Amino acid sequence: MNWLTPPSTGQHYLKQRRSPSVSLLTQTELQTSLFTLHNKTMATAGKVIKCHAAVAWKPNAPLVIEEIEVAPPQKHEIRIKVIATGVCHTDLYHLFEGKHEEGFPAVLGHEGAGIVESVGPGVTDFKPGDTVIPLFISQCGECRFCKHPKSNMCERSWTTLSTGIMAEKDSRFTCRGKVIFQFMGTSTFSEYTVLNQISVAKICDDARLDRVCLLGCGVATGYGAAINTAQVTRGSVCAVFGLGGVGLAAVMGCRNAGASRIIGVDINEDKFGKARALGATDCVNPKKHSKPISEVLSEMTNGGVDFSLECVGNVAVMRSALESCVRGWGVSVMVGWTDLDDFSARPIQLIAGKTWKGSLFGGFKGKDAVPKLVLDYKSGRINLDEFVTHTMPLDKVNDSIELMKTGKCIRTVLNVSPK
Ligand SMILES: NC(=O)c1ccc[n+]([C@@H]2O[C@H](COP(=O)([O-])OP(=O)(O)OC[C@H]3O[C@@H](n4cnc5c(N)ncnc54)[C@H](O)[C@@H]3O)[C@@H](O)[C@H]2O)c1
Ligand SMILES: [Zn+2]
Ligand SMILES: [Zn+2]
Repeated sequence: MNWLTPPSTGQHYLKQRRSPSVSLLTQTELQTSLFTLHNKTMATAGKVIKCHAAVAWKPNAPLVIEEIEVAPPQKHEIRIKVIATGVCHTDLYHLFEGKHEEGFPAVLGHEGAGIVESVGPGVTDFKPGDTVIPLFISQCGECRFCKHPKSNMCERSWTTLSTGIMAEKDSRFTCRGKVIFQFMGTSTFSEYTVLNQISVAKICDDARLDRVCLLGCGVATGYGAAINTAQVTRGSVCAVFGLGGVGLAAVMGCRNAGASRIIGVDINEDKFGKARALGATDCVNPKKHSKPISEVLSEMTNGGVDFSLECVGNVAVMRSALESCVRGWGVSVMVGWTDLDDFSARPIQLIAGKTWKGSLFGGFKGKDAVPKLVLDYKSGRINLDEFVTHTMPLDKVNDSIELMKTGKCIRTVLNVSPK
């Protein structure tokens, strides 16, 4: 079943769904590297590429570095050499929490940046050597949703087309004679990947790929949830639940929107230092209080915050975030990912004038917005360096997953392909 299309009865629907580090390159180094890639490209275009990828053969098991075959791009598709990728909690969700057994084997990873190796017939927007960020939400530019200013839910994305496998069914990957799914349509834990041109953003050639890869998911998601979805206002009081990569980006969004007070909420106090560095004015650990966190926040803010953002992926926390908002005008945004449980709240919460909404990829239309976010990083308007706590080669991917599972990182960036 398509998880975004409501079935005939909501009840039925909800029950069912129970290496070497990449450093900043000089312009000359970058041009030499693009020239080398261009020559290599000529050699590989139109052929199957054998390369390394981290394959998730089944849920709850370590990823295995395998040699996979990546088919040439078909009509309107692009084959990309992935240079760097972040590891996001949604990768862990699919592997450990989501219970989508039919979504395996897959190559995970959806927060990447790379360089176009070759293009298929009919590709007009890209050429070999272009610097790009794969998008897990496409922007075809033609559908009802792309044309509507209020949504980024392009109807040609895997999110609307696929079933509950969290992947594009039509994959260009094989390994040991089996088709391997492209998780979230992207699969950046692979040296090469293939995407339709509607799911790729072209960015400036001198961007630092081991930083801007975070704009492929986590940072764009949290930042956009505050700026686009909550529409945080100047002077407002905000609370962000969950201070991982997504939550910290939401803190940064509240800061850039001019919030006067930003309260970070997390059960892991190790996250508080980064939260303060990115704009949090207060940090609260719900475990240190005997009262519900919504009451604690209500007392701290004379009746509740103007905006709250849930960046954990837990329905109980979503409820707390809503209850922490002020009645009358409070807005609460669900950003954390889960499709396992129903959420609930007392109707009076909404009757009393609060708004409860959700946000996917920060509400950004990726092809238009991601190149601008890259420029915002280059101008210093948004931070990315602060998010990267670890860097390692692709073959250490299981270590990066362990770091996130145990709350010891914000973002690990994997250097997927050596230059
Ligand atoms: N909506 C989207 O488009 C989108 C995109 C990317 C990620 N996500 C989701 O956003 C969530 C966060 O992703 P991330 O990569 O930042 O994950 P993360 O694991 O790095 O961060 C989650 C944080 O939540 C904290 N936390 C856990 N339980 C908590 C609780 N009860 N109260 C307060 N804090 C708690 C953890 O200590 C951690 O710091 C995940 O659910 C992920 O799947 C959604
Ligand atoms: Zn993600
Ligand atoms: Zn569209």
